[in-house]
Amino acid sequence: MKLLVLSRKPTIYSTRRLREAARLEGHACLCVDPLRCVLYLENGRARVKIAGEEVAGVDAIIPRIGTYAVEYGLAVARHFEMMGVPVLNPSAAISIAKNKWECLQLLTENGIPVPPTVMMRFPSHLMDTVGDLGGPPVILKLLRGTQGAGVILAESNEAAESMMDTVWSLGEDIMVQKFIAEARGKDVRALVIGGEVVAAMRRVAKEGDFRSNIHRGGVGLRIELSQEMKDLAVRAASLVGLHVAGVDILESNRGPLVLEVNASPGFQGLEEATDRDIAVEMVQQAVKLAERRRLGPVSPAI
Ligand SMILES: Nc1ncnc2c1ncn2[C@@H]1O[C@H](COP(=O)(O)OP(=O)(O)OP(=O)(O)O)[C@@H](O)[C@H]1O
Ligand SMILES: [Mg+2]
Repeated sequence: MKLLVLSRKPTIYSTRRLREAARLEGHACLCVDPLRCVLYLENGRARVKIAGEEVAGVDAIIPRIGTYAVEYGLAVARHFEMMGVPVLNPSAAISIAKNKWECLQLLTENGIPVPPTVMMRFPSHLMDTVGDLGGPPVILKLLRGTQGAGVILAESNEAAESMMDTVWSLGEDIMVQKFIAEARGKDVRALVIGGEVVAAMRRVAKEGDFRSNIHRGGVGLRIELSQEMKDLAVRAASLVGLHVAGVDILESNRGPLVLEVNASPGFQGLEEATDRDIAVEMVQQAVKLAERRRLGPVSPAI
């Protein structure tokens, strides 16, 4: 098979591992920066050129879309879909996962428990909101966060107000979330591939931080998930429409709460914590999609 990994940084761990895994499985694999893809809509059809060459004969795409130029990355993924190439994950699903609010709306609508969360756009609504969430501290989250960078703990009403004012003045949206203090800087990352949890770890924040992201110095420890947690992760991924998803779950006094669903989860921490070859599993999933595609149209469901 001929696989194409869309990634802005060919040297980062996950991208490098995907290329290695594809070769190990006997496939040709090219890694391309999505920004180098030139998209054509012409004479009623879509085509893509890379470095002046027409792209043809690709069996599946593995998009790794980070936070920079998300719209362009999604447009590229969508273009390949128009050309009939299966994309792991579908562009529509990535688009939902990239917007934390939209994702929480979808999960709530389908009965998945999430932390109490509020969105507003006027400073005058803030105090009331913080009160409704049980008072400070509260968590503030940019709708398009990344690796913990857009997640802030506001210790007081004043801190929340000044942070939100700054964000609003930049034209960004931000949501306020109840701080789940009992999670104590720990969460669970479950990796779902093809409707199954293939690996999971507990992430523990570094001293003094409440964010357990590995990129923020958190440490990952392998865990075996309960069936309830597995079902929750699989359902969350499938509702968003993702074949591959990193589902973040907080353990609260009310039970597990889904924090977010990541469409391009990094997997270095998970491979190190679990000894699983996640890259190979992702490649196999892409190949499965390509094989299904050859047999008939790709169904949006998993
Ligand atoms: N409501 C909350 N209560 C307690 N801790 C939280 C809460 N929300 C987030 N955290 C902590 O902060 C970390 C980062 O939050 P979250 O997963 O929502 O954003 P992110 O990882 O920055 O987003 P992205 O994966 O899109 O880059 C979580 O893994 C968790 O440890
Ligand atoms: Mg996260």
